[in-house]
Amino acid sequence: MAGNDLIEEIKALEQNALIALDEAQSKESLEEWRISYIGRKGALTSILRQLPSLTPEDRRLLGSIGNKVKTNLEQSFANAEQSLTKSANTNGNPSVDVTMPGRQISIGKLHPTTQILREICDAFVGMGFQVVEGPEVEWDHYNFEKLNIPKDHPARDMWDTLWIDYENDNREKSMLMRTHTSPMQVRIMENSQPPLRVLVPGKCYRYEATDATHESQFYQVEGLVVDQGITFANLKGTLYEFARLLFGTDRKVRFRVDYFPFVEPGAEMAIDCFSCSNGEGCRVCKGTGWIEILGAGMVNPKVLEGLGYDPSIYTGFAFGMGPERIAMLKYGIDDIRLFYSNDVRFLSQF
Ligand code: DAH
Repeated sequence: MAGNDLIEEIKALEQNALIALDEAQSKESLEEWRISYIGRKGALTSILRQLPSLTPEDRRLLGSIGNKVKTNLEQSFANAEQSLTKSANTNGNPSVDVTMPGRQISIGKLHPTTQILREICDAFVGMGFQVVEGPEVEWDHYNFEKLNIPKDHPARDMWDTLWIDYENDNREKSMLMRTHTSPMQVRIMENSQPPLRVLVPGKCYRYEATDATHESQFYQVEGLVVDQGITFANLKGTLYEFARLLFGTDRKVRFRVDYFPFVEPGAEMAIDCFSCSNGEGCRVCKGTGWIEILGAGMVNPKVLEGLGYDPSIYTGFAFGMGPERIAMLKYGIDDIRLFYSNDVRFLSQF
């Protein structure tokens, strides 16, 4: 046979062999395939046996093509054998069983604190507030001094402070973990001009003996509004609207006098109990019919003056609340420590 015909023949053989190999799905049929295509008496060998009868040129050409085809078929055979062993390891069943039930994937959620923080922020953003954040490690200057809480003033006892092991040039401890978000009032007033309408969510720390209602780490949300002509009526209107957005439109609010050095007058705001509603008293409101949810007041003129604002031109109000406490009230959670224990059984309820 002429060299060209043999080349055609060998290429056709390669094609047919590969098709047949695809169809060989058992050990036996693979072995049959091996014997008939690449075995010692197989089709490929019988073509290559004809090499000596060719011209030296054709012999070289066919020899090289024949070798390539041989390597390809041997490699394909080895691969087929391997994938057959693999599927045999799955008990001879096809490797994908489409009838098998899918694996349960547990879906993650936002932490309840994040959820309530977003809800609180949304309520105030809707009233035109801007949300900003500040440092958790703070200077005494911002956390106390500029908020009208001088050194050695008894009001400092309201905040059990975690001090950082650091001394300033006067050998005083001056750095601390912020005990509230109020220092951001000072930072904001220092760096911007009225009108201000700002909300500050953030982590705070206190040196506490922890129990169901006290944690040494917790969140606060601070609010500050400063402009010309801001009055206590603005404070009441804003916070009343907030209470209705979070706790339902039929909520009533109650303001009572309270003391915080950086506001004057200072107040505490409570909502009527949504658990026993007709004011008869229950566990949630501790029998009073009212639930305190935040502290607030008109920015103390001393604070304004200390920051170079003229209190005869500018007035403002501020407020601060504990979002975990609000979430506890809203969702009936009875232990603040649950927010920090990472227990999935608790977290997955929200
Ligand atoms: N910073 C206060 C605290 O931690 C809460 C507070 C009360 C914030 C009254 C205020 C406010 O802005 O006006 O107890």
